[in-house]
Amino acid sequence: MFGNSIALMSGKGGVGKTTLASNIAGILAAVGRKVLVVDLDHQADLGKDLGYAYTEEGLADGGSALLSAAISQVSLDKPPLVGVRDNLDVIPSGGQTEALKKFIESYYPDGGAQAYEHHGAILGGALYDLVDDYDVVVFDCPPDFTSGLVYEALACTRWLLVPSAVDAASEEGLINAHLATQVVAERNPDLEMVGAVLFDLPSNASRLAQEFNEDIAAIVAHAGLREDLVFPTWVRTSKKSARDMRKYGKLAHEYYGEHGTLDRWVDGKFNPDLASGAAEALKDDFQFIVRELIERTGL
Ligand SMILES: Nc1ncnc2c1ncn2[C@@H]1O[C@H](COP(=O)(O)OP(=O)(O)OP(=O)(O)O)[C@@H](O)[C@H]1O
Ligand SMILES: [Mg+2]
Repeated sequence: MFGNSIALMSGKGGVGKTTLASNIAGILAAVGRKVLVVDLDHQADLGKDLGYAYTEEGLADGGSALLSAAISQVSLDKPPLVGVRDNLDVIPSGGQTEALKKFIESYYPDGGAQAYEHHGAILGGALYDLVDDYDVVVFDCPPDFTSGLVYEALACTRWLLVPSAVDAASEEGLINAHLATQVVAERNPDLEMVGAVLFDLPSNASRLAQEFNEDIAAIVAHAGLREDLVFPTWVRTSKKSARDMRKYGKLAHEYYGEHGTLDRWVDGKFNPDLASGAAEALKDDFQFIVRELIERTGL
């Protein structure tokens, strides 16, 4: 287990894992932490959020460095992408990440979803020489609690952050995340679900957030999770900002810096593309979320 690591995980797709992974990593790097992000999802959306997907260098690896390290059982000595931002390096994913998943699962007696004495050995070995060079290691995971890759990450990480919606399926999602941590509990007794972050909710959703908190209170108590599991700040809905951020490879604070402060009327012309208010709100949300995360983890 790497004491400086956090994994973004959920059994549900499209709940904000990658958006949170990239923005949390980007903010921590911007305030001076040395950050490594490990993309374990073959969809490789992280590359779009951080912008390297649009570069030759970013396209080249496709997850092959991590796969080779896993197969050869020799740790990577440097990440394939160094300096994606100041203080921010990345181990990217891609087509080869599916092969990595299959390779890992071939070692598991049952695909990975049952306790296994070597959980975490393959991913841990592949990153072993690297992690001490970083203040924080962030894992962006695929939406699949049956994937061996996810169990490798669970066995390696200190903290688990679960993005969530507020519907009934999301309550189940939190239970599933907790059950997944139990699978690796013997291998990684320090693993802790540090929080759930509500994602894609309107600004005025306090009532909904409150109801969700009340609905999960029994689950949280039963599972022995922290009472204040749900972060007080949620990621506010902004389809326009989200679309642009991923399209242009900009994090929320970068997008805000470039678009948010400008007027819609510039030199007598109306600019419909600016997303001022929403971009500012989103940038603020991620900053509050990172502050909360630092308070809870000491990262
Ligand atoms: N503030 C926001 N409001 C609305 N939509 C958003 C917001 N931020 C991001 N999105 C969009 O929500 C979608 C899902 O986000 P994201 O890719 O981060 O989820 P994910 O959990 O990583 O998905 P997957 O399970 O496929 O990996 C994306 O299309 C993203 O652009
Ligand atoms: Mg994702």
